[in-house]
Amino acid sequence: MKIVIKKTYREISQAAASIVSDIVTQKPTAVLGLATGSTPLGMYEELIRLYREGRLDFSRTTTFNLDEYLGLAADHPQSYRRFMDENLFDHININKERTHVPDGSLSADRVDEHCEEYEAAIRRAGGIDLQVLGIGGNGHIAFNEPGSPLSSRTRLVALDEQTIKDNARFYDSEDEVPRFAISMGIGTILEAREIILIANGAKKAPVVAEAIEGEVTSRVPASALRMHSNVTVILDKEAASLLKDFPLLANQHIQ
Ligand code: GLP
Repeated sequence: MKIVIKKTYREISQAAASIVSDIVTQKPTAVLGLATGSTPLGMYEELIRLYREGRLDFSRTTTFNLDEYLGLAADHPQSYRRFMDENLFDHININKERTHVPDGSLSADRVDEHCEEYEAAIRRAGGIDLQVLGIGGNGHIAFNEPGSPLSSRTRLVALDEQTIKDNARFYDSEDEVPRFAISMGIGTILEAREIILIANGAKKAPVVAEAIEGEVTSRVPASALRMHSNVTVILDKEAASLLKDFPLLANQHIQ
């Protein structure tokens, strides 16, 4: 696991965008796994900037998003499809038909079939070249909450109390936060050929330290990334501050 520490959010966003940009440049037909949440917003802004400057071409890129709330139509203001359109896809030359976000508008009885089809679509596309991840305050990746099997696949999941509380800021009240979601599994995520995990801010510091330096356990889903051979964790100094090796790492990385 490679750890990169930068001083500011802007710098981690640029570092993450440059990894994405290298892949898309080297392999125009690259398959990207994308994440929502506030963390990757800066990276998306940076990718849009690179595209506008003519330094990136997404015309042959395929994307698969990690997750979507169940019960939200694609055009709901809080749907992850809408988030991706507004924060990335509408601003670059990607073919929307090659962008995939699980369908949160399905009735519960159709979700299993949809999840199998989502996995099949990833396989047909040749697998994910680069998966971008954030981390939840409880250590979740995508919506794989604590306790999710490390071998889990795309499926219907129940959101954890902490996730519902964390996400309540986007809704008028906590009651409106969806209780279920469709999420790629940890096993699905670990099949990506390369993974980057981005985290910023002091709030993420305890869970980042647990995921990177604690035991590999389903109690901290992000700790599963330690079983993968090509992972880069990109942190600002606040998110890295509780790592045991922080003084050493900060010396190496922060000029
Ligand atoms: C959400 C998403 C995750 C994301 C996480 C962190 O619930 N399902 O993919 O990584 O929460 O969000 P944020 O980046 O806003 O802290």
